[in-house]
Amino acid sequence: MKVSASFLSSKNVPLDLKKLNDTDVDYIHVDIMDGKFVKNKTMPFHEMKHIYQYTSKRLDVHLMVEEPSKYIPLYAELNTEFITFHVEVEEDIMKNLEMIKSYSIGSGLAINPDTKVSTLVPYLPYLDEILIMGVVPGEGGQSFLDGTKEKIEEIRTLIDSYHVNCLINVDGGVNQKTKQFCQEADILTAGSYIISSDNFQEKISSLRD
Ligand code: DX5
Ligand code: ZN
Repeated sequence: MKVSASFLSSKNVPLDLKKLNDTDVDYIHVDIMDGKFVKNKTMPFHEMKHIYQYTSKRLDVHLMVEEPSKYIPLYAELNTEFITFHVEVEEDIMKNLEMIKSYSIGSGLAINPDTKVSTLVPYLPYLDEILIMGVVPGEGGQSFLDGTKEKIEEIRTLIDSYHVNCLINVDGGVNQKTKQFCQEADILTAGSYIISSDNFQEKISSLRD
């Protein structure tokens, strides 16, 4: 199992990014919120881009925004492995997936707890990652929702039946207890479980198998 670490709930981003850089975590999960798609807002790009000073890890960018097309070119400039936006947005999804691909970056769609799995079907051949939300997006530190396990299994069945090469990443409420519901995942994203600990590596290792 790969592990992606979210620093959304960090009180000291430079310090926590440096500490994460000393672990074997696979990715840094960068949560971006616009105050419209979700009510909270994260720092603007000209501030966020400085994270490159504190980490050499590849970035897993999660856009919780109404207009992904405005953010994709910005985050494509960084050391980015995946850019993921939400299947619930009103912008043209295919155009945005193509834009991500044009930078040779992995493209992903995130799906909210209340959204039907079938909405992903038209995009399956174009996806490198599906980010399954274990919470309603908007803030860190929430509890993993009932029904997420079934959703992960449903999406695994879908990916297998369409024979596509797409990773499953689970985000929100992931910890040592809830990882048991994520056995069909390829990547686990965890924020507060890692960041609120005094031993990041121990928490990351506990999510791996
Ligand atoms: C939720 C974010 C998550 C969140 C994860 O809106 O997309 O990435 O920060 O944090 P935890 O693990 O604390 O739920
Ligand atoms: Zn996220």
